[in-house]
Amino acid sequence: MLADEADLLATRTEFPTLAKGVHLIAHSLGAMPGRAREYSARFVDEWENESIAAWGEHWLPAVRSLGDLVAGILGVAPGTVCMLPNVSIAQAVVASCFDFSRGRNKVVYDDLNFSTVHYVWQQQARRGADVVVVKSEDGIHPPTEKLLEAIDERTLLVPISHVLFRSSGMYDARRVIERAHAVGALVMLDVYQSAGTVPLRLAEWGCDLACGGSVKWACGGPGAAYLYVRPDLVETLEPMTTGWFGHAEPFAFDMGPMRYAKDAWRMIGGTMPVPAVYTARAGWEVIARLGVERIRAKSLRQTALLRELVLARGFTVNTPARDDARGGTVCFDWPGAEGVSRELVRRRFFHDYRPRCGLRVSPHFYTTDDELRAFVDALDDVRRHPPAETGRASY
Ligand SMILES: Cc1ncc(COP(=O)(O)O)c(C=O)c1O
Repeated sequence: MLADEADLLATRTEFPTLAKGVHLIAHSLGAMPGRAREYSARFVDEWENESIAAWGEHWLPAVRSLGDLVAGILGVAPGTVCMLPNVSIAQAVVASCFDFSRGRNKVVYDDLNFSTVHYVWQQQARRGADVVVVKSEDGIHPPTEKLLEAIDERTLLVPISHVLFRSSGMYDARRVIERAHAVGALVMLDVYQSAGTVPLRLAEWGCDLACGGSVKWACGGPGAAYLYVRPDLVETLEPMTTGWFGHAEPFAFDMGPMRYAKDAWRMIGGTMPVPAVYTARAGWEVIARLGVERIRAKSLRQTALLRELVLARGFTVNTPARDDARGGTVCFDWPGAEGVSRELVRRRFFHDYRPRCGLRVSPHFYTTDDELRAFVDALDDVRRHPPAETGRASY
């Protein structure tokens, strides 16, 4: 254990759910902080006690304030992040800014992108986008060289995952941004699988657009996703998927031509997910307090430990070995893994199984080494005494 880790583990008392199972599932659902309940209760109290005044006094400021808290984790300026219900909507809002019928119309990403992002961009072909999906060689590493080659003067946007959900392979975001900018293209980084576990410096890297959510490493629950827009780009983007809160003066109810807000709020559309914003705040606060650099140091040590434990059992590891090439998850597989995984979840060792990847297991700042060892011990036990039933996991 690194000397610095005691502080991280001390947060376990703030997460009552950790007493109810072993949570190795931060790539899908981060553990719930106890304070999330308190913040949710605050939302309903304000609704009950203050009625419509809650909007101006609490709810709109809370949405802005969470955007600023997230901005700090992304390494971008306050006021450049707006909150949206999910990543699919964030991608669709960005897609609606572009006219693919004029000149640049190429959208380039890889086949390890998260499916929802692919669905949004694939559908832009109906509006004239030339969608190019670069193939990964091994299904583990991002196909960086092929992607860089495919980014040319016709490329409008490169919407990729920073860390891949299937393997935890990680792009060198700076290389992609550099190449895109050299030919006048933009990069939209989906940082859902990195924000909260891998330090981000999106402003320093020159990233144009970024999105993610609160469900995973941020320990914030569903409904509070976010979209960052580079401040000097924001006024060039005019989303067709829009709404009154994206207007410069929403409460003027102006029926004239759309006048967009001057900042990232032009991307926000209609009424924002306020209850989710309240719940999500608790997790983001813990991440900000601990600092992602420290979370990353512990994550690298524990993912290396887990990798060793798994390799010693002869499993295939489907996550890059190099520290600078992987995020916070270790993925591994062997014949029969899916049934074992299901039994482990039944025994409350929370993780998941994905086809073409295997078990995905993620230590986070609250994970002890003893939990990792207990997980592999349980795995050995299930393999020695396999459960009778088989079938498919649902989430
Ligand atoms: C990289 C990545 N992007 C997006 C999503 C989800 O998108 P949405 O917020 O639209 O459900 C996930 C996982 O749920 C993911 O791992």
